[in-house]
Amino acid sequence: MDSFIIKGGRPLRGTVRINGAKNACLPLMAAALLTDQPVTLRGVPALSDVRSMEKLLATLGCELTADGTTRTLRGTDDSKNVADYDLMRTMRAGICTLGPLVAARGTATVSMPGGCAIGDRPVDLHLRGLRALGAQITLDAGYITATAPADNGGRLRGGHIFLGGPNGSTALGTANVMSAAALATGVTVIECAACEPEIEDVGNLLIAMGAKITGLGSPRVTIEGVDKLGGATHDVIPDRIEAGTYVMAAAITGGDVVLENFPTVTLGAALDRLNEVGVTVRPDDQPAGFVPGMQDTVRVHAARRFNPVQVVTQPHPGFPTDLQAQMMALLTVADGNAIVTEKIFPDRFLHVAELLRMGADITRVGPSAMITGVRELVGAPVMCSDLRASAGLVIAGLAAKGTTTLNRVYHLDRGYEKMEVTLQALGADIERVKES
Ligand code: EPU
Repeated sequence: MDSFIIKGGRPLRGTVRINGAKNACLPLMAAALLTDQPVTLRGVPALSDVRSMEKLLATLGCELTADGTTRTLRGTDDSKNVADYDLMRTMRAGICTLGPLVAARGTATVSMPGGCAIGDRPVDLHLRGLRALGAQITLDAGYITATAPADNGGRLRGGHIFLGGPNGSTALGTANVMSAAALATGVTVIECAACEPEIEDVGNLLIAMGAKITGLGSPRVTIEGVDKLGGATHDVIPDRIEAGTYVMAAAITGGDVVLENFPTVTLGAALDRLNEVGVTVRPDDQPAGFVPGMQDTVRVHAARRFNPVQVVTQPHPGFPTDLQAQMMALLTVADGNAIVTEKIFPDRFLHVAELLRMGADITRVGPSAMITGVRELVGAPVMCSDLRASAGLVIAGLAAKGTTTLNRVYHLDRGYEKMEVTLQALGADIERVKES
């Protein structure tokens, strides 16, 4: 297992190009199961989760061709329809194969995804959605089997589905049900559909494959099923979470960083909170009439002292839960008391204990944490617990006085492409070492 050793205190300076979005890429790859034609994705990030999805799809009869950041997937063996626990336990997004498999192959058996450090991750909404499309679902020995109705020629049938749960919509659940409905007979309406840009991206690939979908990016998505889907070539959207992470890393070090391929339009809530903190993100050349886009070039401007703010995570277009830990790291050095409330995964606070080890002053009360800004953080050995908590600890380490040793960085490799290399290029003192 690898660790990062970070010597904090160096301002980041330079340019970063944002990679393709992990959370779009994984369900996009699963959509290749809907056709026997080639699906080509461009701008695929080099992440361990992507490699896990490639392995899973190989066991499901998909051939893969790789060329740089381009991947072509082609379903060549539709007799394979069992997604094994060994692959499913490493990556929750594997559940996204269930909808495409049952829609295209009539039946599928997929292991329940494993538990997760950020709290309970049920799949009841995925199953509710597929049942509403007529699938018969059984659970046995940790595996879900879904079968399309025989009285409909082995095809799913359209239905009206409410996909909201106690914490709002479900991102991967929407991708799963929408993908399945694309090949169902009749019309499907998903209410309380996820509005996340990554799910919109999945819908756009499906449309390119021949699906008939309207309402993408809104809480009501309508899908008119078609008999067959074909191949397509699709550019993966830039990763808004990677983008937000590098903004916060630049800001906390008082650096001067330009970000390319920056999806400003997807980051409204995060940029609004950052603006209150004293961090602005905008292009150099048109500060006044700037229309936020999907692939902007922007520069991060950070105040010398940060204002404390209230942050509440919510489904998109609210503040993303996947930037909560990074934002908390930034607020540890703000001038006063900030409050962060987590409304998507109320237990997603494993970074708090590690930030305390670095001298932060944080009090957690249920799904909220009060962060009292300190003058400076101090380096310490800390443990990565999950992907975004680890990103928060890197941000803290970049600003801290002294040395921070971040253990178990394999969590980071799931979602950030060679993060230490990117940070080194910006002047950070960070190196990857083998854990002793
Ligand atoms: N939920 C249910 N039942 C379900 C599904 C979800 O109650 O069947 C609940 C969850 O427990 C949570 C809420 O609904 O409270 C939202 O969860 P969602 O289903 O949207 O999460 P997800 O689709 O499994 C994706 C991302 C996560 C991200 C969440 C929320 C991928 C691979 N994962 O997960 O990303 O936090 O949406 O935006 O797309 C990460 O990248 O670090 C990460 C965890």
